[in-house]
Amino acid sequence: MTAPLLSIQDLSVQFCGSRSVNALNQLSFELGSGEVLGLLGESGSGKSVTLRTLLRLHAARTTRIQGQIRVAGQDVMALQGQALELYRGGTVSMVFQESGMAFDPVYSIGQQITEVIRAHAAIASAGARQQALQMLERVQIPQARRRFDAYPHELSGGMRQRAMIALALACKPKLLLADEPTTALDASVQIQILLLLRELQRETGMAMIFVTHDIGAAVEVADRIAVMYAGRVVEQGPVAQIVQQPRHPYTAGLLASSVGAEHRGRPLRAIPGAPPDLAALPSGCAFAPRCDQASDGCHRERPELRLQGAQSLACWQPLLPFPETT
Ligand SMILES: Nc1ncnc2c1ncn2[C@@H]1O[C@H](COP(=O)(O)OP(=O)(O)OP(=O)(O)O)[C@@H](O)[C@H]1O
Ligand SMILES: [Mg+2]
Repeated sequence: MTAPLLSIQDLSVQFCGSRSVNALNQLSFELGSGEVLGLLGESGSGKSVTLRTLLRLHAARTTRIQGQIRVAGQDVMALQGQALELYRGGTVSMVFQESGMAFDPVYSIGQQITEVIRAHAAIASAGARQQALQMLERVQIPQARRRFDAYPHELSGGMRQRAMIALALACKPKLLLADEPTTALDASVQIQILLLLRELQRETGMAMIFVTHDIGAAVEVADRIAVMYAGRVVEQGPVAQIVQQPRHPYTAGLLASSVGAEHRGRPLRAIPGAPPDLAALPSGCAFAPRCDQASDGCHRERPELRLQGAQSLACWQPLLPFPETT
């Protein structure tokens, strides 16, 4: 079997301060080349921290990181200097929720995309400009030649989002990270951007991790879904399996509390209680205090993440049995 494109193993991230926040707690998952993974979970479950850690964006001074991240054969935590610069953008690239994060307001978007291309490849200025223009056309920005010279504030939110995708794809990354790339946009633009991302993903064959609160969007765009709770993956598998036969009570709770097309006709139920305090995690399963399936053992001992083929599960009391290794 060939090695996966991305492998995260037992990744823990702690933000140090007067109260240390355990944002990720032994998070593990893998992603193959060209696969699209939707990352789901309530606010504060660690989705953004996971993506930011993958790009090594946290301040080293205040962040303790343990565990292993491998991307395309590279040990990401060991990357330094120029190798790290080339990794960011060249191997793994990110689309943020706010396009303002990606662009510098004082340069035109065309200039900025050109610069990124030149920073990653030995290419003459004219050639890089040509490639940047092609990228703007590829993300379907109308009148791309004219928009090339526009400053970020001169574009509408949806256009800026498209320009940010062009920036993220300019160096042909193997893996694109998209952190709620559409929540700042109105609904009709959201779906256009999502479909564009999926189309570009298919064209380029890159892999993608995609954070969303919209389960319907995840079903539309992803091949697989990983559900996070309190900084861990608690269940992961192919989209159809997760949506139709969730095993983890938290996954089932998330599905029941979403207004997805899949679930129309079923009553909408909120998950009772609130996520745990990441500065004082319980010793057992972090979801146990909110779980109607929880037994004494769930409160005592944290369930390991069990792996079986393309599926994984961390639960002592699954709603359906997890296939055991044969
Ligand atoms: N730089 C930081 N310093 C301290 N705590 C942080 C830092 N970044 C994130 N956190 C904390 O880590 C936890 C996970 O945050 P994260 O942003 O990953 O959540 P999320 O799943 O992306 O949520 P949302 O859906 O609201 O975007 C939160 O409790 C957050 O407050
Ligand atoms: Mg987030």
